[in-house]
Amino acid sequence: MQIFTEAREMTAAVKKWRASGKTVGLVPTMGYFHQGHLSLMRRAREENDVVVVSLFVNPLQFGPREDLDIYPRDFQRDRQLAEEVGVDCIFFPSVEEMYPQPFLTKVVVGKITEVMCGKARPGHFEGVTTVVAKLFHIIPADRAYFGQKDAQQVRVIQKMVEDLNFDIDIRICPTVREEDGLAASSRNVYLSGEERERATLLYRSLERAQRVIERGERRAEAVEKSIREMLEGQPGIDLEYVAVYNNIDLEPVEILQGEVLIALAAWVGGTRLIDNVLIRIDDK
Ligand code: PAF
Repeated sequence: MQIFTEAREMTAAVKKWRASGKTVGLVPTMGYFHQGHLSLMRRAREENDVVVVSLFVNPLQFGPREDLDIYPRDFQRDRQLAEEVGVDCIFFPSVEEMYPQPFLTKVVVGKITEVMCGKARPGHFEGVTTVVAKLFHIIPADRAYFGQKDAQQVRVIQKMVEDLNFDIDIRICPTVREEDGLAASSRNVYLSGEERERATLLYRSLERAQRVIERGERRAEAVEKSIREMLEGQPGIDLEYVAVYNNIDLEPVEILQGEVLIALAAWVGGTRLIDNVLIRIDDK
């Protein structure tokens, strides 16, 4: 497996592969791989001749009081895991390589970045779209793979790709869960044993919402209430938001119809976790 640290060399390699008729799949990550990342890599492996993983903890997407300094990092472990699933190369740039100073440009997607996580994390999605746009230029792949766990990130990147005519196919892969339902996340390592147990309530509240819908409920307010009832007032859980939004322009819905995103963010102790489910309702 090859490791590239310089953008120019990475781009030259990708151009060479593509010129020789090979397809290239890109899996952008911030490292500390878990089963979610590995599932993206396996999917990319199935669908492409060459698989490139980018590993870069992007300072631009962390707020001043967020966890950039303590974000888990272990390159040797990541390298081994990537190799085991058949990744061909890792792009592992330094902060200086990605953001030579002065760095004056940002890629901003409007409106859909101002709701949900965007409210609590101002500037976060600008950081994501700026680094992803750079990665798409440095690694001009055929396809890029993202997890549905980051539902808002997925919509924001799809919108950027559409609005700015990036020539890349965005593939969305299902959320990978632990046996008890907790969504795989690099931040799960922050949880103590007790918090880890509590965190399972997040997905259980989403499952409860799904059952409410299966029984015929179509009012978004009632679906949201079913989640709030389960999470609000729970010791050690601080619910930040529950959203019942259409999955196109991330606007709140009143009556569930079409593709509906039910998403939440909550603090479990000192760790902020997100989760979501996508529901398809085709009432006539
Ligand atoms: O989902 C992530 O890990 C990051 O937001 C991404 C897409 C790699 C950009 O830094």
